[in-house]
Amino acid sequence: MVRSFFFLVFALATIGSVAHAAVVDYTFEVANLTISRLCKSKVVPAVNGTLPGPTIQVNDGDTLKVHVINKSPYNMTIHWHGVFQLLSGWADGPEMITQCPIPPGKRYTYQFNITGQEGTLWWHAHSSTHRATVYGALVIRPRGGPKAYPFPKPFKEVPILLGEWWIADVMDVHNEAFLKGGAPNISDAYTINGKPGDLYNCSSTEIYKLEVEQGKTYMLRIINAALGNQLFFKVAGHSFTVVAVDASYTKPYKTDVVVIAPGQTVDALMVADAPPARYYMAAQAFISTAPPPPPRPPFDNTTTTGIVQYKSTKPTSPHVTTTMPSFFDSGIVDGFNTNLTSLIRPGDPTVPLQVDERMFIIYGFGIAACQPGQVLCNQTQGSLAACMNNVSFQSPTTMSLLEAHFKGVNGIYTSDFPVKPPMTFDFTNASVNSVAALQPLMFTARATKLKKLKYNSTVELVLQNTAILGVENHPMHLHGYNFFVLARGYGNYNATTAVNRYNLVDPVVRNTVGVPAGGWAVIRFTANNPGVWILHCHLDAHLSIGLAMAFQVQNGPTPETTLPPPPPGYPSC
Ligand SMILES: *[C@@H]1O[C@H](CO)[C@@H](O)[C@H](O)[C@H]1NC(C)=O
Ligand SMILES: *[C@@H]1O[C@H](CO)[C@@H](O)[C@H](O)[C@H]1NC(C)=O
Ligand SMILES: *[C@@H]1O[C@H](CO)[C@@H](O)[C@H](O)[C@H]1NC(C)=O
Ligand SMILES: *[C@@H]1O[C@H](CO)[C@@H](O)[C@H](O)[C@H]1NC(C)=O
Ligand SMILES: *[C@@H]1O[C@H](CO)[C@@H](O)[C@H](O)[C@H]1NC(C)=O
Ligand SMILES: *[C@@H]1O[C@H](CO)[C@@H](O)[C@H](O)[C@H]1NC(C)=O
Ligand SMILES: *[C@@H]1O[C@H](CO)[C@@H](O)[C@H](O)[C@H]1NC(C)=O
Ligand SMILES: *[C@@H]1O[C@H](CO)[C@@H](O)[C@H](O)[C@H]1NC(C)=O
Ligand SMILES: *[C@@H]1O[C@H](CO)[C@@H](O)[C@H](O)[C@H]1NC(C)=O
Ligand SMILES: *[C@@H]1O[C@H](CO)[C@@H](O)[C@H](O)[C@H]1NC(C)=O
Ligand SMILES: *[C@@H]1O[C@H](CO)[C@@H](O)[C@H](O)[C@H]1NC(C)=O
Ligand SMILES: *[C@@H]1O[C@H](CO)[C@@H](O)[C@H](O)[C@H]1NC(C)=O
Repeated sequence: MVRSFFFLVFALATIGSVAHAAVVDYTFEVANLTISRLCKSKVVPAVNGTLPGPTIQVNDGDTLKVHVINKSPYNMTIHWHGVFQLLSGWADGPEMITQCPIPPGKRYTYQFNITGQEGTLWWHAHSSTHRATVYGALVIRPRGGPKAYPFPKPFKEVPILLGEWWIADVMDVHNEAFLKGGAPNISDAYTINGKPGDLYNCSSTEIYKLEVEQGKTYMLRIINAALGNQLFFKVAGHSFTVVAVDASYTKPYKTDVVVIAPGQTVDALMVADAPPARYYMAAQAFISTAPPPPPRPPFDNTTTTGIVQYKSTKPTSPHVTTTMPSFFDSGIVDGFNTNLTSLIRPGDPTVPLQVDERMFIIYGFGIAACQPGQVLCNQTQGSLAACMNNVSFQSPTTMSLLEAHFKGVNGIYTSDFPVKPPMTFDFTNASVNSVAALQPLMFTARATKLKKLKYNSTVELVLQNTAILGVENHPMHLHGYNFFVLARGYGNYNATTAVNRYNLVDPVVRNTVGVPAGGWAVIRFTANNPGVWILHCHLDAHLSIGLAMAFQVQNGPTPETTLPPPPPGYPSC
């Protein structure tokens, strides 16, 4: 990493204050890595030969340049998950949304400013299913460094990346699902910082260890990088104080279980105040239920472990175990999510009270026609798909959406994404799958439809799960923005009763919301960043079958509110 410093005097900042802004350079080489886990060796794409990849460290206000050299055999892009990309949408990363991929043997420099963000974010591949092994932490410290945290400076900060592992090649798993038009095989393990831990066969040495000193405070920067599961995370004998989620500060919240959906981050302070010993840390799936319990697809029900070891303790002493919550303990999930509130500091954005655009989006599974290439797909039955307001998102193939939007090229997408469902029905009632008259609800069609938003408009989205072909918890991730999570609930959203539950004062601010299975969530944001921004389910298997849509946010009236042209070296198809 190279840090070249220069100094900027912000005319608008408090008189006399000088902010330090740096240009921070990283080089990421994506290449084959031969790696053994669970006693089986395989070749995966990885950054700089490590799993997880390098941690990026920046301060708010810095300019980050990441030179990505693609020596892997795959098309590749990298997404800087949660970074606003203010006026730099070209660097956001999702394949065919904001760029064509970087082909094998080529390179691309992602350059963008970090503006008004502090906390834990992360980076990951955003093409095909490569994020299974191409991921790492992105840590943003305040302009004034750690002393400017709104809590006492912790003794150490430790990234904890929760991942997911398949013994098979993940491309084979992904391709097999595509060919059949069905769901992919579930994973074999979860990992903590790339290691499965000692509860799996043949894995006792592959365990992450964190050494701690008695009495010191550690900030765990927890990231759920798993592809398909929300997780519970615990450390035996210790509790946490959550101070931030998705790089937004929260009011300190005490808990002994962290609840984290794929795409989300949680910054949790942990005091090493237990008797010196070795303690398990562990993560395990939660499969949130909506009453009554729906039939559930299979899921990876294994537990990944790590060790928190006090300095004076012998490495051979036994470790203190912890009991994980039940896979179905939605009470813990709801408690965590409803009790978290944001820490509002002077100058922080507040909830827009006037709404310009209201959208009601139902989403979940459906059945679409088999596509060319899906050679094992049952032509009579069709292919498993996912959709939002009955549109199953289809990526373009010849030009990215952002490039087509910028250049005004026709025929790549249409701007008619529906703002409400084509029809109203009992969305979360599982009987939709058995009532013959409702069977047509299952059929959906693929298209590339965007929703146009005026610059600076305020947008409210009601995200409503459906029970079509099964009820699941979907973590919805919006690129380019943070949003306020006003409310969440079970069953069908009812505007009359739901508004009473809106938190308009200090709702949690996130980039990924875990919408309850068989339920809904309401989010608001201000569309003050021109470009094309995808909103999608962060379960990889759902994104790849169409659980996505995109916003096309228009330029504002001034050069400072206008998307600049693509940067040099921008990959085209
Ligand atoms: C990654 O590897 C490249 C090539 O060896 C090297 O130049 C770069 O410094 C490494 N980056 C990090 C963050 O370690
Ligand atoms: C990388 O791995 C893939 C899959 O195993 C293999 O086909 C390819 O030849 C390898 N490339 C290099 C440069 O080793
Ligand atoms: C990024 O920051 C640099 C240095 O402050 C500034 O010159 C540049 O205009 C910024 N870029 C964008 C897209 O805002
Ligand atoms: C998926 O699981 C099935 C059943 O266990 C197995 O036969 C198949 O080989 C697996 N596919 C891959 C790509 O590992
Ligand atoms: C672990 O190995 C044992 C013995 O080979 C086998 O019976 C068991 O099913 C394996 N467990 C898992 C989770 O693979
Ligand atoms: C995990 O799932 C397998 C297969 O369904 C089952 O045999 C096993 O008992 C489950 N384990 C736990 C801890 O639930
Ligand atoms: C969290 O919120 C729930 C209500 O949703 C409440 O019953 C509970 O006491 C709160 N506190 C904790 C620590 O969960
Ligand atoms: C294809 O789907 C139809 C309708 O569900 C079913 O009747 C048929 O058996 C399936 N064919 C195969 C080859 O699985
Ligand atoms: C969704 O679209 C499909 C195909 O266009 C149609 O058959 C189906 O009735 C629609 N579903 C709903 C709920 O409107
Ligand atoms: C955007 O909206 C905010 C809040 O309504 C307002 O203060 C600001 O001036 C607007 N910016 C532009 C460029 O219209
Ligand atoms: C919404 O709730 C109100 C108040 O309980 C009720 O009168 C109304 O029928 C509900 N609407 C729907 C569509 O269920
Ligand atoms: C890689 O991307 C190019 C477009 O940039 C595309 O033509 C090609 O089919 C892609 N290759 C694969 C294997 O997806």
